[in-house]
Amino acid sequence: MAGPEKKLLRALRGESFPVPPVWMMRQAGRYLPEYRATREKAGSFLDLCYNPDLATEVTLQPIRRYGFDAAILFADILLVPQALGADLTFVQGEGPRLSTVTSARDLEQLRPADEIHETLSPIYETVAQLRGELPPDTPLIGFAGAPWTVATYMIAGRGTPDQAPARRLLYSDTQTFDALIDRIAEATTLYLLEQIKAGAEVIKIFDSWAGALPGPWFRRYAIEPVARIIGDLRKAYPDVPIIGFPRGAGAGYLAFAEEAGAQAIALDTSVDPDWAAKALQTQMCVQGNLDPLLLVEGGEPLRKETARIKRGFAGGPHIFNLGHGITPQADPSHVDQMLEVIRNDA
Ligand code: CP3
Repeated sequence: MAGPEKKLLRALRGESFPVPPVWMMRQAGRYLPEYRATREKAGSFLDLCYNPDLATEVTLQPIRRYGFDAAILFADILLVPQALGADLTFVQGEGPRLSTVTSARDLEQLRPADEIHETLSPIYETVAQLRGELPPDTPLIGFAGAPWTVATYMIAGRGTPDQAPARRLLYSDTQTFDALIDRIAEATTLYLLEQIKAGAEVIKIFDSWAGALPGPWFRRYAIEPVARIIGDLRKAYPDVPIIGFPRGAGAGYLAFAEEAGAQAIALDTSVDPDWAAKALQTQMCVQGNLDPLLLVEGGEPLRKETARIKRGFAGGPHIFNLGHGITPQADPSHVDQMLEVIRNDA
């Protein structure tokens, strides 16, 4: 690509910087008044996701306001189940509701993985539109959910605190569970290939519920399906870096870093930067991991912890980010406080 190399891409290739590149999970979201206004205009969250003009607009909002070093496509991990034929709605204030998949018969009702594109084509259009409108030094991150996390929502039909329905299906009908994981993995690969074809320059795979997998199953369901997706993406696009996010993996972070094939690993809030700098950052770029609650809190605690993370990861490749998504309660001016500390290169 012509022009100066984008800082985030350089970090993903192993470079470290006195001022690390920074973006935030859920940076386009309800904490921003301009996001709430655009969502209102769209009608609903899903109408917003499937409207390329408005999805482009909300993706750009946090870039305009804060000048982040990356934009993330505005969409949702649950669009893949919807494209596979699940009914999906978002209940205001309560989260997603889906038709459930808990038997071989339910699985048969789903579409084949290669029939997802009709539903998802507006998303590819958003990606292409964004590549035309983003500042030249701001790369675009495409994304999808990891098969385990997407499966937890498809099996339970909603978010749950501990993913009990998915764990029970894993034990009671392993065959159906495995077939569901495979269907999601296949669809996810095809979805991400199209995002890259349309212009996504980095891919992030969100395994938000990796920490709910029983330990002995972590490798089988949090690493293997993601490694297969990454392998297939890199066969077609060897230069597109991939960020893995096995949230809550604990000790599993080590095996994930070694075996999943990702170029960077996103750290959740529970990970101690001092440990991760030695155990993970010596192998690859790390991303993270400020507690999102500090953006509700603001002030000295925010400044102190931002500085701690910046310092902790100063010795290697680091992308500054949160340990999970920014919450609707966060104060937009606190993001400025965080950025002041990150961008002050003292
Ligand atoms: O700015 C960005 O980060 C890009 C857009 C994005 C959204 N969701 C928009 C969204 C991304 C990357 C996601 C990923 C996502 N979606 C994950 C993985 C990351 C994580 O947070 O763990 C998960 C688990 C989902 C599923 C999901 N989407 C849930 C459970 C909910 C409801 C809970 C909530 O936070 O509201 C959503 C809704 C959602 N996705 C919103 C946004 C901006 C809020 C919807 C609204 O505007 O009302």
